Amino acid sequence: MHHFHYKNNKLYAEGVPLTEIAEAVGTPCYIYSQATLTHHFKVFDNAFSDVPHLTCYSVKANSNIALLKLFASLGGGVDVVSGGELFRALKADVSPKKIVFSGVGKTEDEIKMALEADILMFNVESEAELETIHEIASHLGKIAPIALRVNPDIDPKTHPYISTGLKKSKFGIDIKIAEQLYLKANHIPHIRVIGIDCHIGSQLTLLSPFLDALERIKLLYQKLEAQGLKLQYLDLGGGLGIPYGEEIPPHPTEYAQAIKAAAQDLNCTLIFEPGRVIVGNAGILLTKVLYLKQGKGKTFIIVDAAMNDLIRPSLYHAHHEIKPVEKMERPLVVADVVGPICETGDFFAQGRKMPLVQSGDLLAIMSAGAYGFVMSSNYNSRPRVAEVLVNGDRYQVIRKRECYEDLIRLEKIPEWMA
Ligand code: LLP
Repeated sequence: MHHFHYKNNKLYAEGVPLTEIAEAVGTPCYIYSQATLTHHFKVFDNAFSDVPHLTCYSVKANSNIALLKLFASLGGGVDVVSGGELFRALKADVSPKKIVFSGVGKTEDEIKMALEADILMFNVESEAELETIHEIASHLGKIAPIALRVNPDIDPKTHPYISTGLKKSKFGIDIKIAEQLYLKANHIPHIRVIGIDCHIGSQLTLLSPFLDALERIKLLYQKLEAQGLKLQYLDLGGGLGIPYGEEIPPHPTEYAQAIKAAAQDLNCTLIFEPGRVIVGNAGILLTKVLYLKQGKGKTFIIVDAAMNDLIRPSLYHAHHEIKPVEKMERPLVVADVVGPICETGDFFAQGRKMPLVQSGDLLAIMSAGAYGFVMSSNYNSRPRVAEVLVNGDRYQVIRKRECYEDLIRLEKIPEWMA
């Protein structure tokens, strides 16, 4: 569900025609719909309203502070994976007691920052990290609340780059040795063991991997309980997929029902770290057609956005629908939609049936709200694009387009060349 719809053959974000935003802000730009963001957050969160739970939006999916502020105002917490994300969350007034800190390589500075902020819990990914957290906590005279991120060795049946819960991946602690480490951690003075955590991958379109992982985690939870270690939090990570094209992932309420049924005898607070399911379909990348070029047996539609703005098609061969902002009677052609970057991998679609657009036409690359802007770069010295939030009939730029000066702001010509 989202609020990008055609009215009189023109594509709108809620009440605002995309042509209006293109004119005022320029292209390319990301456009997010606040009504969609709010709806997605509420649907997910309300699906668990009858059990103790905390929805910790995964900041990495889209870290704009306006979005973090919105989710915080809806009662959400966040999942962060770096000092930078923690900084953003605190700036957006997310309550520290609703922040969980994940990630395989937390630095000493990041751990210190999180301890000083009094976050809810660290999701610890190795014994070495546990020791470092303990050292820093004792130095600061604090007690660090932790969960161990357990790797349940489950195949999430998604793209290999976003599968994290298999034994061969770098993530989490092997479930076979987790019990030992829990019992050890429980006796470390500046560590308070309060939870168990797992995240098996992203863009999951089946329920079964979630439930298989939960079964394994439950066994561990119960073994620990039998040994007198009662855990308060069960963090099941994120990972629920969204429809980009033909796929039909489980609806959040279906996911919630299955998880609640499986976890009902555990009597603990559930934590979730959804990212994509909240923001993915709430955003688009608006781009303009620069040129058309006839290749062998296909047409190249060259647009002003590129792989540096949205890398998912290049990196994962991810499918994103591409819609004309103004629908017109046009013949269909088989086209590659490509950007201006000097790489063959710079494409948004290959061999796609597209209306024969013309130079100057606007296109909307759909489902770009998650892992879009956050993965963008300055490759080819392209300034990063603007981000716009639409709310009903209003819209506002929530991140300015970078300018050329921004590109070199932190660079310096060494003295010996001056
Ligand atoms: N929690 C942890 C520990 C994670 O590693 C992730 C995502 C999430 C939560 C949120 O997962 P989600 O609900 O969004 O699936 N760049 C890739 C996705 C990478 C996901 C990384 N971890 C893409 O564009 O598909």
